[in-house]
Amino acid sequence: MLKYMLAKLEVQMRQSVHSQKNRDFPVALGGYELIFEALRFYEELGYTQETKNIQRLALEAQPTPAMTLYLHSLILFHLQHHIGALDSIKTAMMLTPNLLILHVLKGRIQTALGDLPGAYETYAQVRELDPEYSGVDDSFFALAAEKEMPGEDYYDWLQHFHQRLRPACYVEIGLGHGRSLALAGPETKAIGIDPYQGFWEKLNYVCPHGPASLFPLTSDDFFTQHDLRQVIGQDTFDLAFIDGLHLFEQALKDFINLEHYAGKDSVILIHDCLPIAPIVAERERCTGFWTGDVWRIIPCLKTFRPDLKVVTIPTKPSGLGVVTNLDASSTVLADNYEEIVRYYLSLNCPASMDQRRLLCNAGMDYEDSLTTILSGAN
Ligand SMILES: C[S@@+](CC[C@H](N)C(=O)[O-])C[C@H]1O[C@@H](n2cnc3c(N)ncnc32)[C@H](O)[C@@H]1O
Repeated sequence: MLKYMLAKLEVQMRQSVHSQKNRDFPVALGGYELIFEALRFYEELGYTQETKNIQRLALEAQPTPAMTLYLHSLILFHLQHHIGALDSIKTAMMLTPNLLILHVLKGRIQTALGDLPGAYETYAQVRELDPEYSGVDDSFFALAAEKEMPGEDYYDWLQHFHQRLRPACYVEIGLGHGRSLALAGPETKAIGIDPYQGFWEKLNYVCPHGPASLFPLTSDDFFTQHDLRQVIGQDTFDLAFIDGLHLFEQALKDFINLEHYAGKDSVILIHDCLPIAPIVAERERCTGFWTGDVWRIIPCLKTFRPDLKVVTIPTKPSGLGVVTNLDASSTVLADNYEEIVRYYLSLNCPASMDQRRLLCNAGMDYEDSLTTILSGAN
């Protein structure tokens, strides 16, 4: 399966190169980005030669030295060789000083290196170079997320949960390109649910310990059509991750459906519970960097289910909710679903990050709460 994925990434790389030759730059650059990100995963698994060969396809297709240096920098950035990436991008900028993508990548590298003032200045230059380029807003959001939530990102945290809990069964709703699903450990049976991405042809990652079972269904359809107990072969799941449709009412429904199959030590993680700005939490997506209004689920659970333990880890880019002490017999949320949704949809996203932290249980004491939660689990 790992070989299949690498072969698929090679095909995707050839398609991206083809798009670039046809001057479809957004598609080409978006493709390179996703492929280089995925190649790091396979490089870490020891597929060094295969990943290098795929990277070379893109490097050799570049029409100018500046673009070759740009891609070289992007590869190093994704491999987390940030100093080398910065050197390459600076050289590229000497050759082509006004090429916007070079500045944007420089800002990302500076952010990764912790030079936040430098990144801010770089993005300000991007804005000056092209006031019409709205993509820079996302760069500023990512920068703000780095400032507010420094340290490990949510993938690192998901990995900690897998390593700490060693779940026999993991259920993920919302797969993207499969990066989070692939974090499951060798002892874990993983289930992935996603109506659009729940096919191997669509995913870029596969768990090295064995492929997950995929269900190309909306989470609602999955729970209507399947009894999770039969799918996983046990009465309860151990760890679940809600990262599907980013609307409060859907996240709540996913929570209700999952809790029905929860045991005493099961843990539910919920992505996007701490938005970096109210605009990224709009229900109608108007920014590339988008969390939707999933955050509402935290104050909702705090109020309606005081029996649960709820905390949000302030991990970039948008926080990770952690819920334990689950109770499969509780019907409070299901019984009051319509009313709860109506009430919480009228709640405004607080303007200040401090207020959002408070509302979403992501205060300074989150680490203590997390330790308590995790020591209670298992
Ligand atoms: C942000 S991505 C998930 C990213 C992934 N969990 C990761 O961290 O790498 C959100 C995914 O939710 C999926 N999705 C959208 N609506 C859904 C639904 N009703 N049920 C399940 N998945 C859904 C989308 O197709 C998309 O792949």
